[in-house]
Amino acid sequence: MEKATNILMCPGNLLQYPKDYRNINVWMKEKHTIDYALVQMELEGVCKYIEFCNAHISCINHQADLPDMFFVRNAGLVLPSHGDSEKKQVILASFKHRERQDEQKFYRQWFEQNGFEVIVLPMGVTFEGGGEAIFCGNQLFFGHGFRAPKDTLTHLQYALDEARMEADIIPLKLVDERFYHLDTAFMPISGDGVDTKDALVYYPGAFDKESLTVISALPINKIEVTEADACAFGCNLLAIGNNIIMAKGTRKLSHELKARGFIVYEADMAEIKKGGGSVYCMTLNI
Ligand code: ARG
Repeated sequence: MEKATNILMCPGNLLQYPKDYRNINVWMKEKHTIDYALVQMELEGVCKYIEFCNAHISCINHQADLPDMFFVRNAGLVLPSHGDSEKKQVILASFKHRERQDEQKFYRQWFEQNGFEVIVLPMGVTFEGGGEAIFCGNQLFFGHGFRAPKDTLTHLQYALDEARMEADIIPLKLVDERFYHLDTAFMPISGDGVDTKDALVYYPGAFDKESLTVISALPINKIEVTEADACAFGCNLLAIGNNIIMAKGTRKLSHELKARGFIVYEADMAEIKKGGGSVYCMTLNI
């Protein structure tokens, strides 16, 4: 039987940024024009698709003064289950910007209360969870440059050792400030292997030359995303088996995914985008 997909979300404060909250990414320039009723509708749309794909949604309580908790992907890096641990495991995030630092304790509490072994990085190490590190088989891709520095890699390696998990960590350097977290520009997808093949969706313009060389050598089908589709947050998609939930508005990407056998659900994300994220950012596979 197929394993059920469990998704954590943080509905609630609907991106109500206080007046003095800085723009910690370039998309947030428009954050004071956010229409909360529309955010609510967009959120409901995404939830509907997730449930339609037979995934289960759990919620973490929002905190009124921490609007970016909406983007719960950053809570931590949930490790895939592996033989050496009976418990679910997570490497807890530790945020760069003051605005998000207080989120950590609420995530920690939630993970602990929900049966996770929580691995905490040393003080002073920046790491923004599932937004910056993405597993693909036994490889862990780590995007650095805007939030986490490259040095975080060493600490991720220690954390994986502590979790008794083997994986090769592959650093990728982000160079375009619009794509400040790895998940805004790079998304490996594994379909069910029947109608679809594994695919890697990525926007080349987000990476430096060396990283592009690493990416092109990967033995996986690649889909290069155009700048326009990347700016529509096309890469920030949530895959559930052969289903893909993504932002409406990509010109080529959704067609390309459909042509490869994926079932694509396109959600309105125009308001949520003003916080600097999309479907993948607002969900966390647990
Ligand atoms: N406003 C949030 C920030 O700048 C958006 C986070 C988006 N999350 C993500 N996984 N890319 O931190």
